[in-house]
Amino acid sequence: MDNTRAIILAAGKGTRMKSNLPKAMHEAAGRPMLGWAIEAVRAIDAKPVVVVGYGREAVEEYFKDSVDYALQLEQKGTGHACLMAKAYMPKDGFVLITLADMPLLTPAVAQALCDDAIENGWAGAVLAAVLDDPAGYGRVLRDEAGFAAGIVEHRDCTPEQRKIREVNTSVYCFKSNLLLAALDQIGTDNDQGEYYLTDVIKILSGMGHKIGVSCCSAEEGSGVNDRAQLAEAARILRRRINRAHMAAGVTIIDPENTYIDPDADIGADAVIYPNNVIQKGSRIASGAILYPGNHIVASVIGEGTQVRSSTLIEAKVGADSTIGPNAYLRPGSEIGNHCRIGDFVEVKNSVIGDGSKASHLAYIGDADVGRNVNISCGVVFVNYDGRKKHRTVVEDGAFVGCNTNLVAPVKVGRNAYTAAGSTITKDVPEDALAIARSRQENKEGWSKKK
Ligand code: UD1
Ligand code: CA
Repeated sequence: MDNTRAIILAAGKGTRMKSNLPKAMHEAAGRPMLGWAIEAVRAIDAKPVVVVGYGREAVEEYFKDSVDYALQLEQKGTGHACLMAKAYMPKDGFVLITLADMPLLTPAVAQALCDDAIENGWAGAVLAAVLDDPAGYGRVLRDEAGFAAGIVEHRDCTPEQRKIREVNTSVYCFKSNLLLAALDQIGTDNDQGEYYLTDVIKILSGMGHKIGVSCCSAEEGSGVNDRAQLAEAARILRRRINRAHMAAGVTIIDPENTYIDPDADIGADAVIYPNNVIQKGSRIASGAILYPGNHIVASVIGEGTQVRSSTLIEAKVGADSTIGPNAYLRPGSEIGNHCRIGDFVEVKNSVIGDGSKASHLAYIGDADVGRNVNISCGVVFVNYDGRKKHRTVVEDGAFVGCNTNLVAPVKVGRNAYTAAGSTITKDVPEDALAIARSRQENKEGWSKKK
């Protein structure tokens, strides 16, 4: 939308959250609530300016310079907050106002509101919803022609006005110049002694301007004031995210118990069992199977790979590999194709070549492991000497026997073997067998004599 600016009010503390974090920064489905508001207005090309105040450091730290900021030092009301963004309002254009605590507002609803105001040539439009329980919300008063004539806050309502179920969602579209003119006239004559943005409606209507009423569903228009509402909003957002993946061909066995961040990319015919948590831009390729109970953070999983009850953080896994149950892939793990990383195997900052296996109970840290390597049960890559980390190289086709310690820096050559229980401190040449343990001695009849 040309010449339309979005103002997102986010300066309030959100007292009912009982939190040190500003309400706008509380996450719903993997994104701060303010992030949902920003994405919604961006999706309709309205450049956002965020009004910050309480906890602004946390807001600015997260969103950096991806948005403009206006500062409201003292929270003197929604009208005052809006005025703080005056410098960003176009001279000749429209302003879309929304709140940081409405993560369920969709771009389509915001667009319809703006279209209503702009195409009808109104001074503005307010987004309203009809609620079963309107308590706490401002009520929309309409004139005979159906235009908005005013908004009365719940606490300022007469008993008769309290019966109105059509409420103000706090999303508006105004002609910029008229909004500014009206904001200059608002006062603090209300129960809270604040500058109410809602007074703009009465002022403009009184000047003979038309303010339309656009309607949305109760779901889209609902705000979050406490943590119970936050959880409810998150549930609805997850449902939307999961529906979009299912529509694109992903099988989600139990969408109510599958937690996918909004920026995850999942290929068609991937299968996701319950209790998978997929976060921070993870990419799951087509045909992958995520069995129950994985936590996948900023990681990549290749085609046809299967993952069971495992934790992956900034890790990459190729195609047709199997991970888990109970594997832990830490940052910098790069597992190839046709690999097996089995139960209780931890990998950190290591590259593992195609066809290699570590089937159980191993720690692989700071290693370059070639192709078709076997890392047997209980192998430890001893990467840390108490001061520095060192790398280990295991070349293609090597077989690292059970309970081997590979004391880095060290190298095991191509097709070499290490005997079970060895503590390897020297490089093992290609094709060699390294035995690094004391020889067994049997003391005959010892137990009978003791
Ligand atoms: C506001 C509306 C009410 C509407 C409701 C919908 C007013 C006077 N009332 O009431 O009609 O039904 O939203 O949720 O506008 N904020 C600031 N600076 C301030 C005050 C608020 O940035 O000085 C921000 C808050 O961070 C919050 C938003 O504005 O995101 C709404 O403020 P809040 O105090 O929650 O308004 P309500 O009383 O809910
Ligand atoms: Ca509110």
